[in-house]
Amino acid sequence: SDESDQKAARGKGGEVHQQAAGEIKVLTTQQGSPIADDQNSLKAGARGPTLLEDHALREKLFHFDHERIPERVVHARGFGVHGYFETYDSLADITCADIFQRKGEITPAFVRFSTVVGSKGSPDLARDVRGFAVKLYTEEGNWDIVGNNIPVFFIQDAIKFPDMVHSVKEEPDRGFPQAQSAHDNFWDFISLTPESMHMIMWVMSDRAIPRSFRFMEGFGVHSFRMVNKEGKAVFVKFHWKPKLGLQSVLWDEAVKVNGADPDFHRRDLWNAIIEGDFPEWELGLQIFDDEFAEQFEFDVLDATKIIPEEQIPIRVVGRLVLNRVVDNFFAETEQVAFCTQNIVRGIDHSEDPLLQGRNFSYLDTQLKRLGSPNFTHIPINAPKCPVHHFQQDGHMAIYNPKGRVNYEPNSWGDGGPRECPEKGFISYPQEVGGEKQRVRSESFADHYSQARQFYISQTPIEQQHIADALAFELSKVKTPRIRERIVSHLLNIDQELASKVAEMLAIEGLPHPAEAALPTRYDLPPSDKLSILKN
Ligand code: HEM
Repeated sequence: SDESDQKAARGKGGEVHQQAAGEIKVLTTQQGSPIADDQNSLKAGARGPTLLEDHALREKLFHFDHERIPERVVHARGFGVHGYFETYDSLADITCADIFQRKGEITPAFVRFSTVVGSKGSPDLARDVRGFAVKLYTEEGNWDIVGNNIPVFFIQDAIKFPDMVHSVKEEPDRGFPQAQSAHDNFWDFISLTPESMHMIMWVMSDRAIPRSFRFMEGFGVHSFRMVNKEGKAVFVKFHWKPKLGLQSVLWDEAVKVNGADPDFHRRDLWNAIIEGDFPEWELGLQIFDDEFAEQFEFDVLDATKIIPEEQIPIRVVGRLVLNRVVDNFFAETEQVAFCTQNIVRGIDHSEDPLLQGRNFSYLDTQLKRLGSPNFTHIPINAPKCPVHHFQQDGHMAIYNPKGRVNYEPNSWGDGGPRECPEKGFISYPQEVGGEKQRVRSESFADHYSQARQFYISQTPIEQQHIADALAFELSKVKTPRIRERIVSHLLNIDQELASKVAEMLAIEGLPHPAEAALPTRYDLPPSDKLSILKN
C-alpha cells in the first residue's frame, strides 16, 4: 500500500514503528505471539542492560545465528528453476519407466544449473564445468539426471574424486584461488592424471565459458541402462540439447562480465523466465546394446569417453521447458538434493566405477548439508506421487507412520503398505564376477585418442581458443616441471597444439611425450618447501 495509508508512529528515540492495520498482517514470533514493538529490546531502565527474559529478542537472534547451512562441497554456486518435461512418444518397447509410457505425458521438473569449483558467492563466468541437474517428479517416484554441460569427466574412478576436488579448490594454506583453475595444485594433479586429458580439452574449450545457461548442452555422462517390462535391457546415454543452440563468450568477455555483473548467468535465466521467454531443451538418448558395447573401441563404463553421435545417433524423446522461477531461493535452490541414486523402475545403473561412487556420495553429503535424514520431507525434494513406508523419526520428522504399525510383515488388518512385485523396482540382473581386486581395467587405458578427436573436431578459431586457454592457465603455474608435464601430454594429443602452447609459455625445446614424464617429489618453490618441512 501507499506509504500515506500506513499507520505509523515514532518512538521516544525517534525510531519508526509501522503498525498493522486493515489488510496488513500482524507480526508475530515463530510461536505465533503478536509483537507490539520490534524496534527495541526489553531493558532494565531506558538505557539497559537488556533482559534475558526478552523472548522475542532471544528468538530473533537465535534464528538469525543459525541461518547458514554448509554450502555444497562442489557445485556450491547454483541457480534453480521449475518447469516440465513432455514425452514425445511412448518408449514402452525400451523401458518400463512410467515417464516414457504415454505420448504427451507432462512431468513436473526442477533444474539446478551450477558452477563446480567456486563457492556460493563466486562469479558466474568462471572457466569451469557447469552442473545441469534435473529432478523429474514422475508418477513412480523422483528420477534425477545429475549431469554436467560436458559429456565426459576428469577421472574414471570415484576414489580419485576427493583428490581431484581438493586440487582444484582453494589451496589449504592461502585460501585462493576461489573460482579459477589456474594454479599449481590443479595442474599438478592433472599432469599426474592422464585420464583427465580428454576432459581438459573440453574445459579449455569455449564450452567452459557459456554465454548463458540457456545456450548449454547437458549430459548424463555415464552409461545407464533402460529396462523394459520383459526385463530386456539396453545401455543409454542422456543428452539435453538446447533449442537455442550453443553459445559461449570469449575469455576477455568472461573476465569483464565477472567484474561488472558476477550474477550474469542467474540474472539471464531469471529475466528470460519472468519475461515469458521460456528456455527449452530436447532430451536425446543414445541407445546401444551389449553387442555394440563389446565391439566399441572404448569401454562404455569409462566416464572419460563419449560415444560418437556418428556411431550411435541421438534419438529425441521429449522436451524440457523451464517456465517458473522459485518463490524462495533457499527453500528450493539451496535445499534441493539431487542424487544419482534417485532412479525409477525402467532405468538402472551401469557398473561405471565413477557412477557407483557417486551413488554413495550424494546421500552422504546431503545428510550433512541438510542436517537430517528427513530431507525428502522438504517440499522441493518430496515426490509428487504417493509415498508410503515405515521409516520414522529423526531430526525434523514431518511425516511419520500413523497408528500402531511401523514394521512389516505384520498381522494387522490395516497393516499399512505392502510390497508389489509387479510395480516394484527390480535391479537389472547383470552377471558379474571375477576376483576381488583393486585395479583399473585395461580397457580404460587409452587417455589420448578421444582428446585428439575432440581437438581435431574444433574449428581453427576454437582450436586457437584451446591453445590460448592452456597457455593462459599454465602461465599462472609457477612450477616449470608441471607446465612441461602438461605439454608432454599435449604431445600425445596433437603435436601442433603442444608446440603452440610450449611456444607461448617460452618452453625451450619440447619435452618427451607423456610416458617419460613421471613425477618427482619436490618441485615446489622454496617457501612451500619450508612449510612441507615444518609440517
Ligand atoms: C554435486 C559428488 C561426479 C554432477 C555434487 C555434490 C557431491 C558430488 C558431494 C554435492 C551434492 C550436494 O551437496 O547436494 C560427486 C562425486 C563424483 C561426482 C563423488 C565422482 C565420483 C560428478 C559427475 C557429474 C556430477 C561425473 C556429472 C555427470 C554434479 C552436479 C551437482 C553435483 C550437477 C550439483 C547438484 C545440484 O545442483 O545440487 N557431486 N560428483 N558430479 N554433482 Fe557430483
